[in-house]
Amino acid sequence: MGKMAQEAHREHWGSRIGFILAAAGSAVGLGNIWRFPYITGKYGGAAFVLVYLALIFIVGFSVMLAEMAIGRKAQLNAVGSFQKLRGGAWPIVGWMGVLAGFMILSFYGVIGGWTIKYFIWSFSGLMGDAAAGKAGDVFGAFVTNTPQVIMYQAIFMLITIWVVYKGIGEGIEKYCKILMPALFVILLILIVRSVTLEGAGKGLEFYLKPDFSKLTGESFAAALGQAFFSLSLGMGCMITYGSYVDKQTTLPGAAIQVCVIDTMVAILAGLAIFPAVFAFGVDAGAGPGLTFVTLPSVFAKMAGSSIWSALFFLLLFIAALTSAISLLEVVAAYVIDKGWARPKAAVIMGLLIFALGVPSAMSLTGAPKIAGKDFLDAMDFLSSNVLLPLGGVFIALFVGWFWTADARREVTNEGTHSFGMMEPWIWVCRVIAPLGILYIFITGLKW
Ligand code: TRP
Repeated sequence: MGKMAQEAHREHWGSRIGFILAAAGSAVGLGNIWRFPYITGKYGGAAFVLVYLALIFIVGFSVMLAEMAIGRKAQLNAVGSFQKLRGGAWPIVGWMGVLAGFMILSFYGVIGGWTIKYFIWSFSGLMGDAAAGKAGDVFGAFVTNTPQVIMYQAIFMLITIWVVYKGIGEGIEKYCKILMPALFVILLILIVRSVTLEGAGKGLEFYLKPDFSKLTGESFAAALGQAFFSLSLGMGCMITYGSYVDKQTTLPGAAIQVCVIDTMVAILAGLAIFPAVFAFGVDAGAGPGLTFVTLPSVFAKMAGSSIWSALFFLLLFIAALTSAISLLEVVAAYVIDKGWARPKAAVIMGLLIFALGVPSAMSLTGAPKIAGKDFLDAMDFLSSNVLLPLGGVFIALFVGWFWTADARREVTNEGTHSFGMMEPWIWVCRVIAPLGILYIFITGLKW
């Protein structure tokens, strides 16, 4: 098949809203509800949140728009896009992205498995234990039960593989349309319950009243990593999704909407979790278990607790799934554009990623540590705090210096739409994002 014919046959999203929901579906996931609260708890509460917001709307938005523009212009995967638009050493950025996708999905699948366990468990004993104040104990018992953790991880990965196997329109788009609004609604209900708990005030203060003395260089590095992780940036995910966008859709509007939706879900998750953290006397810096220990205790205080808990973990599972799909899609799209059939790409890459995730599943029960860090932590740190921001630097430089005139044309749909933030965007890509990220790297990156 010739190049032109190949482009003509490329799958596309069914509609503009389908694309935005799919991109938001990629962005909204465990990053918002599992990772954001525990990172916020660990790195300084409200002051951390402010740094995070600034990074989202300056660096995050700019890199997201850059990725979408690159992908739509090239109509190819992350590696192929750089190859086609400039060649040279640029495809290395795409390869870094494929590697980051591999690493992220490997541990993402483990936490995704937790959501399935918690969904089922909501009906079988979790609520009783949580009501008795034992949510932390039973969480600990579960995550050290390695065969179970791996089994749920396997189930999660098989479902992910199945959706990617079916392709973008049939699979990804369909699932994102209904379920995202549902997650939003249940978060609002949870917030009401959480902030009315006795002792919730302390949590609101921690989350909303900034204490800048809590900020360190490390907080900035963590906020940067969280921004990239949560927005699905820095590894070509939005390049790949952008490559399925038609030429009529306006990209800046889509990028801003995805940033706003993603940020709202994270902020709401924090509002649901921190009041409860303090009301139940959990340590805000407790780490990856924070959401899974705290929320069951909140549900246990609601009438119909099992139903609420099950509904929440079901929606969290779906949010995680739409993100996991996007991660596998980046890896699969690369080999698909190399000539593999989609089913083969989904199954083989998915199984390899599952295998890499097994040591993460065993990270609390004797998997090898990497330079003193648990395996899961090490994978998360290397991908989120190093590979993604580094990918972001190169994507920004690409648009700011090497592909600028084309980028201008692409974000204005060949000059037919205006983009009021054009100059600020270009300058963020040129100077502010690369220097800002490098500065944060140098001052804050600590193993
Ligand atoms: N953004 C997702 C979340 O918050 C995770 C994710 C999906 C991701 N695709 C990505 C992270 C690509 C980095 C890059 O859960």
